This record gives sequence, C-alpha cells and structure tokens, in this order.
Amino acid sequence: MGALRTDVHSHLIPGIDDGAKTMDESIALIKAMKQMGYRKLITTPHIMNDYYRNNPEIIKSGLENLKKRLVEEKVEMEMEAAAEYMLDDGFLNKLREEPLLTFGNKFLLVEMSYIAEPPNLAQMLFEIQTSGYKIVLAHPERYNYWHNQKQKYTEMYDRGVYLQLNINSLTGWYSLESKKMAEWLIQNKLVSFVGSDLHNENYLAELEKSRSYTLLKQLMEEGKLLNSRL
Ligand SMILES: [Fe+2]
Repeated sequence: MGALRTDVHSHLIPGIDDGAKTMDESIALIKAMKQMGYRKLITTPHIMNDYYRNNPEIIKSGLENLKKRLVEEKVEMEMEAAAEYMLDDGFLNKLREEPLLTFGNKFLLVEMSYIAEPPNLAQMLFEIQTSGYKIVLAHPERYNYWHNQKQKYTEMYDRGVYLQLNINSLTGWYSLESKKMAEWLIQNKLVSFVGSDLHNENYLAELEKSRSYTLLKQLMEEGKLLNSRL
C-alpha cells in the first residue's frame, strides 16, 4: 500500500480554485483521506492564466492557514503544497520569471487543456526541462484528443515526462474512454505517479472503490510508482 499513502494531486486549499470551498470542507476531506490510509498529501491548486490566477504566495499562505487549522483540529496529516500548472498562454512567462512550485526533487505538475493539445507543447516541455524541472503530466488518460494517438504517450515517456494517472479513472468515473486509456497506460508500464485529484466529497466514495481496483494493485506491485518515494 506504500504508493497509496502519499497523494500528489488534489485541490484542498480552500477558496482558491474549483476544489474545497471552505476551510471546514478542506478539513473534512483531509480527515476522509486519512481514514482511507493516506498519510501525506501534496496538494496542487490550479494555476491558470484565465480562471484561477494563483501564484506561489497565495498557495503558500493558504497552506499555512490550512496547517494551523489541522493542528487546532488535531488532525495528523503531513501536508505540502505544489501546484497544477496549466500549459496555457501565460505559462512560459511564469516559467521564465518566477521559481515554480514543485514537489519532491523538482517535480512540476502540469496539465493541458481538455479541448486541444497546446500548439507549442514541444517548446514548453523543452523549456521546462532545460530550466531544471522534471515534468509530471497530470491525468494523461483524460485528454480525449490523444486517445487515438497512443504514440503520444510513449513519446512523452521517452522524452522523460512522468505520467500521473488519476486513480478514479480506473472505474470509468470520468468516462469509458479515460478508463480504457488508464488501463492501457498501466498495461504498457507508462505510469510513474498516481493521484486522487480530489476536489470535493463526490470524489471520496469513488476513490475508495478505485483504490481496491485490481490493475491499481498490479501497478503498485510492479514497484515503479514514485509516490512512495516522496
Ligand atoms: Fe487537478
């Protein structure tokens, strides 16, 4: 179960993205994660150019408030914060101007639009890597426009991009297509991290279900998941 003690993707800092809305909701979600067996949560608020214009200061102060509240509530959980950066028009400026929020040894969690691959994807990936970050691509199984281009996933893997599967994809919660892709990624040994992508309580019951899913167990037994090393 080692890999499922540390989560690398969630939206638990209240009020700054489409995740937990209030401090009480955050605390309830963290308690539920603890109940499920998690011991360390690296929470990753969205940073986008349009919708969620967060920055490292907002996220760090949000984390401090959350940690204070956890102490008051006597909830023992190791909490860290990084971010989920959208590879959008504003991303390269952020990369060039400010140190980005990462977890572990400079792992940078990024996501892409669900509509289309960013036109300058290759350039962005190159600049991220030459700036010294390790790229973790969030929920690769959820980008529909790649579902008929499976070589995209092996290309990513071959260029050193770590793929982070959403655990809830395994039960088909997002879509049947994402489920199939998640299975394919596991069968082809392309997955380096798993994450809950927890936003609200709707995710919890599904997470409980998907955590016992056979392919996930198989993935953990292969020993390649990096969650447990964080
Ligand atoms: Fe997310």
